[in-house]
Amino acid sequence: MSKTVAANITWHEGHVERAQRYALLRQRGATIWLTGLSASGKSTIAFTAEHLLVESGRLAYVLDGDNIRHGLNRNLGFSPEDRTENIRRIGEVAKLFADAGVLTFASFISPYRADRDLVRGAHRAAGLPFIEVYVRASVEVCEQRDPKGLYKKARAGQLPEFTGVSAPYEEPLSPEVVIDSNRLTPGDAASRILDYLRGLSLLTA
Ligand code: ADX
Repeated sequence: MSKTVAANITWHEGHVERAQRYALLRQRGATIWLTGLSASGKSTIAFTAEHLLVESGRLAYVLDGDNIRHGLNRNLGFSPEDRTENIRRIGEVAKLFADAGVLTFASFISPYRADRDLVRGAHRAAGLPFIEVYVRASVEVCEQRDPKGLYKKARAGQLPEFTGVSAPYEEPLSPEVVIDSNRLTPGDAASRILDYLRGLSLLTA
């Protein structure tokens, strides 16, 4: 786990409470964490859910692995250490978004259970909901889809440390939601997630 290296820093409380922001937005913030193999459908499902929520007047936002690696995390690669740092940073960003009141979808392979559990623990400590969604698809199905041609490259030995081929993926042990992405359409998968969110009473009138 990364340590705080700065000394002489003090937490500064604001004058606005979380509950005030939530009342303003008519919703409570939460992190919906989608984990699964590359090409399992995480991002398509997350963007579909975001679209459905925003169309129905709710504030949602997607933090997407490929996108975040173009900016905030552009200095990280795919070694185990870099992936851990990737997830730590996004866990913190998602926590801030959820605190602000946003229904925040985080779409990351996040292959290590311990990394995801750290994010879960940080949300629990902050009193924020963390909903782990396992987008389950077999390597075979992801490899058939292969929208970016990465499995092909990995099989050809041109892409080291590729998840599911030459790097591990640790399945969640007790995710809040499991999506069978071999069978469900992205629309049906997004609806299942929204049904789950409705059950948590995150949305008010
Ligand atoms: S994570 O493992 O650190 O959580 P993240 O979700 O941010 O990964 O990024 C995964 C995306 O990066 C994949 O969807 C794929 O497009 C791309 N990618 C490039 N190289 C790799 C690799 N070696 N392993 C997995 N994904 C890779």
